[in-house]
Amino acid sequence: MSIAKIEDIAFVRFNAPDLAEMCSFIEDFGFSSLLHDGKLYGRGADGSPYLHVTEPGSPGFAGVGFRVSSRAELEALAERDAVPVVNSSAPGGGAVVRLHDPDGNSVDVVGEQEFAPAKLLPPALVNSPGERRRLRSSVRISAGASSVYRLGHVVLNVRDFAVSEAWYKERFGLLTSDQVENEEGKPYGAFLRCDRGDIPTDHHTLFLLQSSEQLGLNHAAFEVVGFDDLMRGHSYLKARNRQHAWGVGRHLLGSAIFDYWQDPWGNVVEHWTDGDLFISADQPNVVGDKELIGTLWMT
Ligand SMILES: [Fe+2]
Repeated sequence: MSIAKIEDIAFVRFNAPDLAEMCSFIEDFGFSSLLHDGKLYGRGADGSPYLHVTEPGSPGFAGVGFRVSSRAELEALAERDAVPVVNSSAPGGGAVVRLHDPDGNSVDVVGEQEFAPAKLLPPALVNSPGERRRLRSSVRISAGASSVYRLGHVVLNVRDFAVSEAWYKERFGLLTSDQVENEEGKPYGAFLRCDRGDIPTDHHTLFLLQSSEQLGLNHAAFEVVGFDDLMRGHSYLKARNRQHAWGVGRHLLGSAIFDYWQDPWGNVVEHWTDGDLFISADQPNVVGDKELIGTLWMT
């Protein structure tokens, strides 16, 4: 039994020396922005108070936040690591517990935040040879940023996969979707998802990857509202001379269509859409190096 079961990832935090420059980037990326108490908040359309936070400071990753659905879980997590539950002064309020994972990453767990209603347009109708759904109307997409809906996952480069996996699973009840093993059969990474019973949940909310590269954030990935929206954002970021990193493609593991970009300080942020959803009863898979970076198609 884990101490808590997170219901989703909530936000990712950064430090940057120039909030105006970060604000320009996150608006190009598809967030709406808000300055509050000297911090920059990027919001999506899912109604949560924020998904992306920047505080003034030396540039880099500052931490990740997850959400639980009950006060009791916050208190149990606080007790486990002998830290306090504090009231949050961030937008949306609520309460927060700040933990530190085995690599020293700051890991916030929030609860009792106030949500606004989600803003979600009806899905675009698509025509295919077997199913004609958009009749007597045209596709019209204006130029502009993607519409970021929510934060889907982060990938952390960790010093020791087994140690980090045990830490996150004990506290947050994460389930393995795909475990990555080397040729000798030694696990060195895993795509982990939330345990939400019969509620379908993303193939991965957290991916831990043992790495000799810089520890900490590998990338943070934000769900946009569809393929056209992802490509609209791709064209817009390109026109704005933003730094492209990888894609557009479709991952093998988790099946999502992806497009990776870098913010002005080199932090990698991903747009994705159409990922796999699983329930708790779905069993884990074991995969190798090839599957890890495998794509179904790439532009
Ligand atoms: Fe990703």
